[in-house]
Amino acid sequence: MSKPAQHTALAAEYDILIIGSGAAGLTLALRTADFADVAVLSKGDLNQGATFYAQGGIAAVLDEEDSIDSHVADTLSAGVGLCHQDIVEHVVENSTEAVSWLVAQGVPFTTKSAAEKNEALKNSDTTSPDRKLESLHLTQEGGHSHRRIIHATDATGKAVFETLQQLAQAHLRINLLADCTAIDLVTQKPSSGPESSDEIQEACVGAYVFNASSDRVETIRAKFVILATGGASKAYLYTTNPDGASGDGIAMAWRAGCSLANLEFNQFHPTCLYHPHAKSFLITEALRGEGATLELPDGTRFMEKFDERKELAPRDIVARAIDHEMKRLGCDCVYLNISHKPTDFIKQRFPTIHSRCLEFGIDITQQRIPVVPAAHYTCGGIVVTRKGESDIANLYAIGETSFTGLHGANRMASNSLLECFVVAFGAANDIQQKIAATPFAGDIPPWDESRVTDSDDEVLVSHNWDELRRCMWDFVGIVRSDERLQRAQRRIMLLREEVLEYYSSHRVTKDMLELRNLVLVAELIIRCATLRKESRGLHFNQDYPEQFEVASDTILNPD
Ligand code: FAD
Ligand code: SIN
Repeated sequence: MSKPAQHTALAAEYDILIIGSGAAGLTLALRTADFADVAVLSKGDLNQGATFYAQGGIAAVLDEEDSIDSHVADTLSAGVGLCHQDIVEHVVENSTEAVSWLVAQGVPFTTKSAAEKNEALKNSDTTSPDRKLESLHLTQEGGHSHRRIIHATDATGKAVFETLQQLAQAHLRINLLADCTAIDLVTQKPSSGPESSDEIQEACVGAYVFNASSDRVETIRAKFVILATGGASKAYLYTTNPDGASGDGIAMAWRAGCSLANLEFNQFHPTCLYHPHAKSFLITEALRGEGATLELPDGTRFMEKFDERKELAPRDIVARAIDHEMKRLGCDCVYLNISHKPTDFIKQRFPTIHSRCLEFGIDITQQRIPVVPAAHYTCGGIVVTRKGESDIANLYAIGETSFTGLHGANRMASNSLLECFVVAFGAANDIQQKIAATPFAGDIPPWDESRVTDSDDEVLVSHNWDELRRCMWDFVGIVRSDERLQRAQRRIMLLREEVLEYYSSHRVTKDMLELRNLVLVAELIIRCATLRKESRGLHFNQDYPEQFEVASDTILNPD
């Protein structure tokens, strides 16, 4: 993939500063660049986020037999009473618009076979402008009562990312800035209005950014700042996520004074490849959607013991069932089996998984795939409106870093990318309305490095990073208890002290910044998990196995 030209110093001012170059950030950039100068930051290569790795697809109501009501009902049911119905309806109602936009941008989604197309044509209105959408192949995933997932074989995220990134790269008003890590947001009270009035809301006016090319911390001023930084699943030892999923946006927003919600709902994907040399490789749920079965080492299927939907039950149920069986039998993994399907079908439908597994000596057309659950998605995050507005003026959060209320206690498969697009559209419209009346802020104090020395002991960072992720996996995982949570809290607080001491006396590095954020987010996850005295969806505490009749969010407000 092409990288933008190397840069030394960053420009000091953009109308819109988007922190994150995944589905959410790139969508917002493309939707605003016709009326604003936009910078999009990524802390590594531009494809560093989870978007690039998304496999299964994007949920949308496109089939005649499907309906908005059905997609809404499935989402609410997967979310176990905690989804906010208004945002669920909003996102689902806008799913067709999101898919139309992606198709218009040129994303190469998989289309139906000729036979399926003929069948669809018989039943369709041939004058419909949405004929292109009708030709998209739909697959099935857990929790969905219809086939409603559009996809680009088994590499949907890569297709979406590459299409949007190329368009952004070509746009004259979009600046894509790789290797730039935002450290903290800058907030100020607006200079106009009554002086020192407590009534006036803080506004976000920019960010401090560590630019790896210049090896300096630089200041970027912006009228609007958008956190599109992805999730925090790297808090766990085993995860499907890329290394950058360290919750930076959540941590920056919290330090700036935003409220957060529902961080206890960490989604564990049931089927991550289990192999000593495979780092974070997901086996998409769409395999189960196309008939793959989950089996114990002796070949017995087990999901019917846990849910009548068997392999297509929502993820919290499947992951907990696998965890239960692995602990009961003392085995290292369970198996996913699609080998009963025709070889050609498997190779065409799942080319990425087929070839990746072959690299590890597993031929999925003939053999079962060893799988284990792994941390996958952060359902909670920065509290925002359906337009992505946070508690701080001119600061937005979109995509996985945000909490809109869509996912409740358990996100339904393929609703995440959909949320990225729909909320980015809303944020873009909102910014367009406000931009003419929004001035740049005055001076921002420069970054102060006067009391720090060069980072001298990288092993401290890497050791603390490992310790944190193991602690979270062991004590704040799929099954929790009060004792485990207390143990985790004591250890994380100690780690946090050490990390903050190191941060305050050393020059920043990307690894150190990520650790600083991850240790804060880990503490906040434990805080949320401790506050919930029931079990619901992804949060299971064996000391409180029951579910309250009335569901409520866990909200954290800064002091
Ligand atoms: P991301 O795509 O994660 O991008 C985050 C961006 O923020 C990156 O560019 C990163 O460099 C940048 N960033 C972070 N911190 C900083 C910082 N401090 N400074 C500068 N830049 C920063 N969802 C679905 O709906 N369907 C699927 O099929 C699906 N499959 C998935 C498969 C895998 C393996 C994974 C891991 C997730 C999957 N998900 C899927 C979830 C979905 O991919 C993510 O929720 C979604 O892509 C998040 O997009 P985003 O734009 O919010 O963030
Ligand atoms: C998958 O392909 O199984 C992941 C889908 C998702 O996380 O939504």
